[in-house]
Amino acid sequence: MKVIAIFNQKGGVGKSTTAGNLMAELSSRGKAVLGVDIDPQSHLTKFLLHEEAETDGATICELLSGKAGFMDVAQSSKYGDFVPSDRSLATRLPTLAGNPAFVFRLREILAEQTDIYDYVLIDCPPAVNALTVAALVASDYVLIPTEAEYFSMDGVCEIARTIEQVRGSKFMNPLLKVAGIFFTRYRSNLTIARDMGEVMEQAAKELFGSRVMTTRIPLTCDIPESQAARKAVKDYRAASKAALAYSALTDELMEEIG
Ligand SMILES: Nc1ncnc2c1ncn2[C@@H]1O[C@H](COP(=O)(O)OP(=O)(O)OP(=O)(O)O)[C@@H](O)[C@H]1O
Ligand SMILES: [Mg+2]
Repeated sequence: MKVIAIFNQKGGVGKSTTAGNLMAELSSRGKAVLGVDIDPQSHLTKFLLHEEAETDGATICELLSGKAGFMDVAQSSKYGDFVPSDRSLATRLPTLAGNPAFVFRLREILAEQTDIYDYVLIDCPPAVNALTVAALVASDYVLIPTEAEYFSMDGVCEIARTIEQVRGSKFMNPLLKVAGIFFTRYRSNLTIARDMGEVMEQAAKELFGSRVMTTRIPLTCDIPESQAARKAVKDYRAASKAALAYSALTDELMEEIG
């Protein structure tokens, strides 16, 4: 089982979109996939829920507080199993995180699922808080979506600092690896986007000792449209450039982490 945190504390860069579409790709390739939504915005949950499904059942809150077990919380979807989130995670976080063992809870829970899943994808919130630390402590890899924009560099430097802090403690996660950094919402017709390729390549080498992934997810209305239809983009429009890109990203990811 490989646990991958999809993380960038910058908002709106395509984390949840990537989590949903990677789940769809991996499960269509016969992999057993679990999505973990630890974002109070619950976008991955909303994407995966059946129209008629219950949203008021046990969520990641009950799981992390120990009030419910994994089997009570996990739900199934057409793109794999998932642990749902809901808005109350934000208001309950201070109490949850008041427990010093909080950041280790998710790792303990996932350790019991090793035989069940091939891949676990954690959709992180756009923040550096106890939830993201819990995700990074529980993960083998971090996958970093970023836009190819001038201010994206600030975000990437901040990510490097966060990862270093988690790796720096032998009790947290010294073995945490960067699976890759890749461009989302990419507009190849913008000069700045093309220039950022080189800048980001240098930064990835210096900060993470890695390369920028070859796959770039293009900015296209197919993505928001597919999400409104609650479908992975490949099931919404198979010939979409974004569908081909998410397939290529999956290839690259699997090549990197096995
Ligand atoms: N390749 C794309 N082309 C067009 N729109 C996209 C693309 N990827 C994501 N989007 C849109 O951009 C918005 C942000 O995407 P998403 O919710 O995946 O980002 P996020 O990083 O999870 O955001 P947050 O930080 O708020 O959790 C969404 O409205 C989504 O539909
Ligand atoms: Mg999100």
